[in-house]
Amino acid sequence: MKQTLVLKVNPNKPSIKKVKVAADIIRKGGLVAFPTETVYGLGADAMNPDAVLALFKAKNRPLDNPPIVHIENMNTVYELTEHVPPKAELLMRQFWPGPLTLIFKRSKRVPEITVAGLETVAIRMPQHTVALALIKESGCAIAAPSANLAGKPSPTSAKHVLADLGGRIDAILDGGSTRIGVESTVLDLSVDPPQVLRPGGTPVEALRKVLGDVRLHPFVVAEEEVPIEKARSPGMRHRHYAPNAKVILVEGALHAVIAKIKELTDLYRLKGVKVGVLATDETIANYEADVVKSLGSRFNLEAIAQNLFTLLREFDDEGVAIIIAESVPSEGLGLAVMNRLRKASGYNILKVV
Ligand code: TXA
Ligand code: MG
Repeated sequence: MKQTLVLKVNPNKPSIKKVKVAADIIRKGGLVAFPTETVYGLGADAMNPDAVLALFKAKNRPLDNPPIVHIENMNTVYELTEHVPPKAELLMRQFWPGPLTLIFKRSKRVPEITVAGLETVAIRMPQHTVALALIKESGCAIAAPSANLAGKPSPTSAKHVLADLGGRIDAILDGGSTRIGVESTVLDLSVDPPQVLRPGGTPVEALRKVLGDVRLHPFVVAEEEVPIEKARSPGMRHRHYAPNAKVILVEGALHAVIAKIKELTDLYRLKGVKVGVLATDETIANYEADVVKSLGSRFNLEAIAQNLFTLLREFDDEGVAIIIAESVPSEGLGLAVMNRLRKASGYNILKVV
């Protein structure tokens, strides 16, 4: 166990002194959690193999699942990659800094462990003053997966990070809650048309406006477990976003979803099981369970994305054994929300009509 240093900062105007303390830790090979606009990341110097190994260990992350490399200056992309296609440059101009991760053919300078032995590297420029200041002050490209224990919901506040990683990492820059709440969109430009490997904070509709045709990797919309040999993004292979409670996701027409959730709730409660329902503002009044929480309004998918991981963790804090979740429309940020809910349920999905 180490002592995790908590550095509280103003998210818009962080104390440069505290950022320097954190940057120094990164430069010396240590681990620092920091806020981005999506979720908190756990950062290490991307070019230091020992630091990156420590990063995997702190998270209990399988070594075959590479982190995203975070940068604060466009030029760094050219140092980390072999080739930057024109479409990537277009997207970098349009969407960076922001919640879009691009996959490039990597330079040999990037250590093997940072890319889990792949020939490609995932890069993004986060849109958060604290993250950008940390990268700049450290002078390092920062490898940063989400700052949760592997398999758990991603952290959207410093409290979540400390619950998972307190005592396992050197420091955290606490800049309050994150704005977007789901991770960045991961886009693969090595195929034509480009393919979304993970839906996230940049809606696929926005990518299509710039690129025209953009496809979803079949597993983005998968409704069952992914066969290992077909997963192009290593992250597709691993169990994700799972609270301790078992999750059941109910999909279909809204009235049928409500009826099914009520039926299941009654059934489980009769058996003495503590049940949580993940509802929305428009539907919450229908449910009587041990714990009922609303993700937000169905007409505000941004709010729903922002609340998702926090609520999953809250259900665990309240000790429910089962979470029964409504589905939301798969448009805009809703696609990322549905992808996370499906994974959180371990593809325990009930379709109703
Ligand atoms: O918003 C985010 O992306 C957050 C913040 C901290 O930036 N980071 C994040 O990192 O979610 P992580 O490590 O939890 O997820 C990275 C995803 C994984 O699904 C991983 O498999 C995929 O990106 N990935 C990384 N390198 C890849 C590569 N070379 N090719 C394909 N997928 C890759
Ligand atoms: Mg993650």
